[in-house]
Amino acid sequence: MNVLIAYASVHGSTASIAHRIGEVLAGHGERTEVRPMDELGDGVHGHDAFVLGSAVHEMTWLPPATEFVSRNRDVLADRPVWLFSVGMPAALREPWRRLAPKEESDITEPLLRLLTPEGHRLFSGVIRPEHLPRSGRLMFKALGFRYGDYRDWDDVRRWAEEIARSLAADRRGAAL
Ligand SMILES: Cc1cc2nc3c(=O)[nH]c(=O)nc-3n(C[C@H](O)[C@H](O)[C@H](O)COP(=O)(O)O)c2cc1C
Repeated sequence: MNVLIAYASVHGSTASIAHRIGEVLAGHGERTEVRPMDELGDGVHGHDAFVLGSAVHEMTWLPPATEFVSRNRDVLADRPVWLFSVGMPAALREPWRRLAPKEESDITEPLLRLLTPEGHRLFSGVIRPEHLPRSGRLMFKALGFRYGDYRDWDDVRRWAEEIARSLAADRRGAAL
């Protein structure tokens, strides 16, 4: 299948996760294209399946990502679509960490009005002091959050392998 892995990223961690997903799917025999969403117009018709991801800012997808979904909702409506978000749940300490499931539903709620994905994952990315304005750094410190690279590559691989299995099952179903 032709799988488009499209992403919106500011500091690169969402892009790196998108590329890793692309590598895993390619390793399972899929034809993959990994592209930033703001370089893709509505030229998505040639793809059979989609994996779409965005960095999370203020508990929502970045504008290029929500715009991409709105612009292409007709094509996305009748092909399998997986979504992933990259935030910083792993950087949080208790009690904030308990809010991660709530954040996940806040992130997906507007997206689910536009499409019906096969699944959604909230991954942790990279958060560095230089990514935040001064006010954000002060709040980050006051709440006891920790800077770092929280990407969990095994988790990303496992999720991509689930997608690969689902695509293979679709293919087998289509061949019957
Ligand atoms: C201005 C700003 C706002 C952010 N807001 C959130 C947020 O609301 N929720 C969250 O989980 N992560 C938030 N983050 C963390 C980022 O989503 C995280 O660092 C992610 O790895 C960034 O992805 P990128 O490297 O692809 O830009 C924020 C980061 C920045 C810089």
